[in-house]
Amino acid sequence: MAVSTIPAADLRTFSEYLKGCKRILALLGAGISASSGLPTFRGVGGLWRSYDATDLATPEAFEANPDLVWQFYSYRRHMALKAQPNRAHYALAELARRNKDFVTLSQNVDGLSQRANHPLSQLRLLHGSLFTVKCTSFYCSYSRENEFADPIVPALAIPKNVPEPKPSTDDKTGEEASKSLYGTLGVSEGEELDISDDRVPLSPLSPDVLPHCPECKDGLLRPGVVWFGESLPSHTINLVDSWMKSGPIDLILVIGTSSRVYPAASYVDKARARGARVAVVNMDRNDVGSSGLNPGDWFFQGDAGAIVPEILKEVIGEI
Ligand code: OAD
Repeated sequence: MAVSTIPAADLRTFSEYLKGCKRILALLGAGISASSGLPTFRGVGGLWRSYDATDLATPEAFEANPDLVWQFYSYRRHMALKAQPNRAHYALAELARRNKDFVTLSQNVDGLSQRANHPLSQLRLLHGSLFTVKCTSFYCSYSRENEFADPIVPALAIPKNVPEPKPSTDDKTGEEASKSLYGTLGVSEGEELDISDDRVPLSPLSPDVLPHCPECKDGLLRPGVVWFGESLPSHTINLVDSWMKSGPIDLILVIGTSSRVYPAASYVDKARARGARVAVVNMDRNDVGSSGLNPGDWFFQGDAGAIVPEILKEVIGEI
């Protein structure tokens, strides 16, 4: 579906409502960054289609294979740095500047909202950041934000011929981006990677060449992202909860997320319980979350990079 086909009546009712909104929440998922050419996690071309999340995004996986996990995250750091924020990231940043009671909850770890100059006090990173590193030693509390070195250590360099993320021109962005992932990891296009057999294309690396803590000089560093089985950052959650409790919420924008990962997805129902109407922007009409849409909610189907600036235009102007 082309973005130019946003139904005029929906755009009109949404814009009218938006103009009167005071307290607004947004929940972002990988779909907003698919518009910048980064792969999503689920669905066609998604990262978890070729890998099992538990092999790459759990503390147990890191314990067992820190080299495999670091190669995966080194690749994602590289791709995120090569990608550029898109018009949806800029539109939300502009909405935040115009409305101090607008808070964005992002499940994305790619840093694109920050690079679009989204006011940081109005951006809550539920799943951490690819560009934070933390020491894994029990005895060390070293953590550092904004660690942008690419590669972070020479052994994790990404081959020079890796295709760069391609921003979306149509609905195929996730698919486009994921082709380059298959390429890098040595799996031919269209081929499914079964990580359990001996075709795993990542080369084993000695722990010695992986990133180490500069403070204790002993522990391995790990990416500062939230893995499955880990808690969301408590400071961030407390800030979000106290904002949510401090008044009724008019609107929640649910942009580019499959709404399948909890507790992040639960913010939609929490916002609804505080009075919010829901506006979903997604490529897939089925991805509206487990409780679906109510009368008075909106569903805008298509590419977030094109739809979001369009639906916010009445309030933020042209982006
Ligand atoms: P998913 O991959 O689960 O969902 C991406 C969503 O974006 C899907 O609903 C797509 O239909 C939609 N989509 C794809 N391209 C789009 C586009 N150009 N415009 C608009 N929508 C588009 O990603 P998340 O919902 O972000 O967690 O996944 C949530 C969490 O699960 C992630 O933070 C990650 C993952 O496993 C961890 O790694 C812990």
